[in-house]
Amino acid sequence: MTQSLVILTGSGISAESGLGTFRDTDGIWAKFDWQVLATPEGFRTQPENVHEFYNARRAGLKKAEPNAAHFALAELEKAWIARGGDFLLVTQNIDNLHDRAGSERLIHMHGELNKMRCEHCGYIHEAFDEITVDLPCLNCRQAGGLRPHVVWFGEMPLEMELIYNQLESCDLFVAIGTSGTVYPAAGFSQIAKQVGARCIEINLDDTETSPIFDEHRKGMATQAVPAWVAEIVG
Ligand code: OAD
Repeated sequence: MTQSLVILTGSGISAESGLGTFRDTDGIWAKFDWQVLATPEGFRTQPENVHEFYNARRAGLKKAEPNAAHFALAELEKAWIARGGDFLLVTQNIDNLHDRAGSERLIHMHGELNKMRCEHCGYIHEAFDEITVDLPCLNCRQAGGLRPHVVWFGEMPLEMELIYNQLESCDLFVAIGTSGTVYPAAGFSQIAKQVGARCIEINLDDTETSPIFDEHRKGMATQAVPAWVAEIVG
């Protein structure tokens, strides 16, 4: 049995929970300008607009529930570890649906919608409600420095050393609901392949990185993920 498993998820796993994907025809970046809403420059020049966008997404997340795919991955984590395996779930999603489904060995490499960070003192706070430009930091008390604790284009994703260490020793790599267009996450399959891991892609469609994968399971995440997990967990 394979021992070390790394799973990468993207917005496709949360699509059936009602949260939008980014690059599908009706995706978030078809409706909103990522250059304003997902870059440090955009936040510097239009902080009110950036807060408004993430405040709306935070409100939307309160109405969303984890789906069968999120729950299946939490079940897989428990079963895999019980059998002595090594497990890591890396998500590009800033929603908290994996957490709420029970996943524990989880890295949010693009940050978390329910956290904010103070640019003055670096303190990271929980953020379940609206953030405004005049909100003071609970730690240093200064206003004007709070930003969503999310990774924007041009910024370094979180916990990369830990992720690369796991990838370099994995036996099985599985990418679920991600288009394979945003680096460094889009390069994970290549690394896994190079170290000899079996690579499985679960997605509605082909992606930029599909040719790298050994196995393709096409379908909606809420069906394809529980079906794959059932085969492993038995
Ligand atoms: P994309 O919108 O680029 O890709 C979503 C993928 O999910 C596509 O390949 C779809 O085919 C697939 N998909 C859609 N619905 C699905 C379903 N029900 N079941 C299975 N698959 C489905 O989103 P990401 O790859 O997550 O980063 O985007 C990566 C990053 O780009 C995001 O984390 C975000 C964005 O800009 C930042 O904001 C830094």
